[in-house]
Amino acid sequence: MYTIVCASQKGGSGKTTLSGHLAVEASRSGAGEIALIDTDPQGSLAHWWNARQAPAPHFVKAGLPDLEQALAGLHQAGIKIAVIDTPPAITQSISRVVAHADLVIVPTRPSPHDLRAVGATVDIAERHGKPVIFVINAATARARITGESAVALSQHGTVAPVIIHHRVDFAASMIDGRTVGEVVPGSASAKEISDLWFYIQERLSRLMHDPTLLPEIRPGHLAINSLLSQELPQGEDNAAEVLQAIADAPVYEGPERRGGERRGVLEARPHERRVFGRRATDQVLWGSK
Ligand SMILES: Nc1ncnc2c1ncn2[C@@H]1O[C@H](COP(=O)(O)OP(=O)(O)O)[C@@H](O)[C@H]1O
Ligand SMILES: [Mg+2]
Repeated sequence: MYTIVCASQKGGSGKTTLSGHLAVEASRSGAGEIALIDTDPQGSLAHWWNARQAPAPHFVKAGLPDLEQALAGLHQAGIKIAVIDTPPAITQSISRVVAHADLVIVPTRPSPHDLRAVGATVDIAERHGKPVIFVINAATARARITGESAVALSQHGTVAPVIIHHRVDFAASMIDGRTVGEVVPGSASAKEISDLWFYIQERLSRLMHDPTLLPEIRPGHLAINSLLSQELPQGEDNAAEVLQAIADAPVYEGPERRGGERRGVLEARPHERRVFGRRATDQVLWGSK
């Protein structure tokens, strides 16, 4: 099992957004069984997942003391990739999560505040000898600071060649437990996420010397494409389309009414089961012993 940790000391940089989107994209692209782990006590990802209808990815809420045990359980359960979302700003706790990472993704907004904060996150990763990829998130189309941020970040390490732009899609699609690829497939936002996952998967494959992780080469695919083209004009996005898609979606009635559907809930500790809201009747894949 490989572990990808989304970390940055700056709150609001996009850790939760990218963790959810990348885990879903990994699952959709056929990368194997994927688990999301929320280690943020605020539980934003847990709320998102509770609203989610699709069975994949699996989900675990784990506190720091539970994390190692949770990872061992996921490994045993045959999970191929675990994506861990972390809380902001608590150096000690981020450090303990990063210790388990095979790859650390550091989402960074192209702003002076975010750029100033990356040093501390990079230090943590370096202390543990973990590879880092910066992902520029919430960039404004054609803003000069995006390129300048990429150059500044490149002094600290690898910068993903796929930039995630600021679009209402990303926030709106998560309202009912989905992602941009699910709500507005074919949109520029959805393409950014699938290109980003493609790139991360390829990096992970190289870093781990595991060719089975290599994504299938899509004809005409170039990760750098999303740097070159199809940016929406500034201020324009798919908000109306996304909100309409959410309004048109069937009303969520809770898992207990969706008889027989298999959902993977993987609990960190059997005796301390954290079951969220309507999750009480869900199937527990791991932790029953
Ligand atoms: N690319 C983006 N475009 C628009 N809004 C975004 C984008 N990325 C994140 N957001 C929004 O910014 C806020 C903070 O993002 P979040 O992923 O929760 O950050 P973190 O987990 O690092 O604190 C959320 O409201 C989220 O919906
Ligand atoms: Mg968060």
